[in-house]
Amino acid sequence: MYQAVYVDGMKHLLAAFPQAWPLYTSSTSVYPQTDGSTVVEASPAEPTKDTGRLLRGAEELALQNGGTVARLAGIYGPGRSFVLKNLLEGTSGIEINDGAPEGRLLNQIHADDAASALVHLVTQKLPGIYNVVDDAHMTQGQCLSRLATLFNLPAPGIKPPDAARKRGWTHKQVSNVKLRQTGWTPHYSDYFEALLDDPKLASSILQLVSTAEAVPFHRAENIVLIGLMGSGKSTVGRIVAHMLGFQFIDTDHLIVDQARCSIPEIFEREGELGFRQRESRVLRQLLGRRHTVIATGGGIVTQPVNGPLLRHLGFITWLEATTELLARRTAANNDRPLLQGEESPRVKLQRLIEERSPLYKALADLRIQTDELTQPESAYGVAESARMFFSKRVSKPN
Ligand code: S3P
Repeated sequence: MYQAVYVDGMKHLLAAFPQAWPLYTSSTSVYPQTDGSTVVEASPAEPTKDTGRLLRGAEELALQNGGTVARLAGIYGPGRSFVLKNLLEGTSGIEINDGAPEGRLLNQIHADDAASALVHLVTQKLPGIYNVVDDAHMTQGQCLSRLATLFNLPAPGIKPPDAARKRGWTHKQVSNVKLRQTGWTPHYSDYFEALLDDPKLASSILQLVSTAEAVPFHRAENIVLIGLMGSGKSTVGRIVAHMLGFQFIDTDHLIVDQARCSIPEIFEREGELGFRQRESRVLRQLLGRRHTVIATGGGIVTQPVNGPLLRHLGFITWLEATTELLARRTAANNDRPLLQGEESPRVKLQRLIEERSPLYKALADLRIQTDELTQPESAYGVAESARMFFSKRVSKPN
């Protein structure tokens, strides 16, 4: 198959498009090094596996025709990240041997950066071989233990290198210096930067794993409060935190701290979209938290990308209240831009209840109708339910 797809495929393309600039997207797996050395384009690329040898064959065809060979490291991005997926599914292990006591070195590239590198190589018409890899220097052990901390999981154990790997077991630091010198820079300099900056990466992998029935979806030991403006998330949340000895965090406050301006100012300068992007980012920054009550902004559920993150972050309680109560509670201040328009706050709140109730319902582990309760009573309900939720879990987080 490799012969048919890569080598014969390349021949057919060259024959069909004799005038075109050949760009062959190869793989850093053509470098067989296992000694942890730094590998540049001039380093030996004599693969030990047939698959690698066939990739080299296709590379040669591109080079003979004056074209470009891009050797791509492991591609990850939204919907695709084997390191994170395997960790969440509990199947990862750190592959160590005498030469790699912390596991092999990982060489990765974000899909967007792989694409930008390819565009750069063809638009700049740069012939020859280029490695396409980010700036990280990271062993599998370092990567997995940091990820385990971020996702509240125990660090994976060790295992011997997998001799059956399709592209061979290697341990090497692939260098991007040559490509960088031509003016290309990766947007995500390493995997952990991408986890924070890419709006979809963490969320999409959590979503992927949550639909695989075989593994229980991992929930961090926090309490997340959702519900409309004025439903009491911050007040009740503070009481819950006090009852359980948890920390308290309010996503709106984190956004304001980071933006160094008020929510109405953010809405004015960046629009609701800008505010929503900040809100999602704050959720990603909360990865790794434990023993925290997280009060969220009323609209956090409107962004589908936030769903898997919220669910992973903890036990979710939806605080409900009637329009009358919400209107009364929110009347006191004017720091909520969504209630400032032409429409009366009461009508707007009623519309938001209708729009958002299905979204709150889909995420909630617990739903509390708060109108008839004092806030300490609501808090007691949340705290007790969360305690039961976490104590019933088969594998307790940490
Ligand atoms: C919003 C709710 C607010 C705040 C922003 C938008 C919303 O938070 O995030 O004004 O869309 O419902 P609270 O629910 O804490 O008031």
